Amino acid sequence: MTVHIRPYHPSDIPHLYEICLKTGDNGQDASHLFESPYLIGDYYAVPYAIYEPELTFVLVKDGRPVGYVLGASNTPVFEQWMFDEWFPPLREKYPQADPNAVDMRSHILKSIHKTVCEPDNVPGYPAHLHIDILPEGQGGGWGLKLMERFWDQLRSMEVPAVHLGVSKANANAVGFYKHIGYHVITEHQWGYMLGKRLIG
Ligand SMILES: CC(C)(COP(=O)(O)OP(=O)(O)OC[C@H]1O[C@@H](n2cnc3c(N)ncnc32)[C@H](O)[C@@H]1OP(=O)(O)O)[C@@H](O)C(=O)NCCC(=O)NCCS
Repeated sequence: MTVHIRPYHPSDIPHLYEICLKTGDNGQDASHLFESPYLIGDYYAVPYAIYEPELTFVLVKDGRPVGYVLGASNTPVFEQWMFDEWFPPLREKYPQADPNAVDMRSHILKSIHKTVCEPDNVPGYPAHLHIDILPEGQGGGWGLKLMERFWDQLRSMEVPAVHLGVSKANANAVGFYKHIGYHVITEHQWGYMLGKRLIG
């Protein structure tokens, strides 16, 4: 068995969609929550690799991608790009959400169909990230190694701090993030905004 981390390559895109879907329900398989297997990856994974590929790293086990870390170095600028460049074809591809629905699929659909860009801004923590590993890659220290590659890349870009959102229902991920040095910036009904300083 060989396991290693390497930079993203465009041929990883189908795997990014797969890994995102298979871990998207608070760490569990989210396939039952989506009619389209692409919607969740079109929002939480693939645009990052397209926009800022130098911030995507892939965990490879026996030749097959089984995990990734990806993100954006400047969140408001990335979200403006999503609004202007990434969402327009998705607005044709995916339906409008039921305005009263609060499930994850509806949250994504509402974001895609927004008519005004309202960039997320966590003052002092410009970057944000997503990390997902299939079960066969979890628990061997590779989540931390992926995270360290990502932090090092941000430091080389002189990005001072990173944030991420995590649901309280994903107790495993909350435990992982706190164990590896993330602190709570803000607590919400849905979960935590966590942060980590990288410089200074
Ligand atoms: C969360 C996730 C990225 C963690 O990766 P991982 O490879 O399983 O974790 P690692 O083996 O690298 O763990 C690194 C360290 O964190 C610790 N850790 C891991 N999970 C923990 C938990 N639930 N509570 C406390 N510590 C934890 C490990 O013991 C290890 O500690 P050590 O370095 O002192 O030995 C991975 O489990 C995953 O992708 N889960 C599914 C998708 C998901 O939930 N993503 C997050 C969405 S917000």
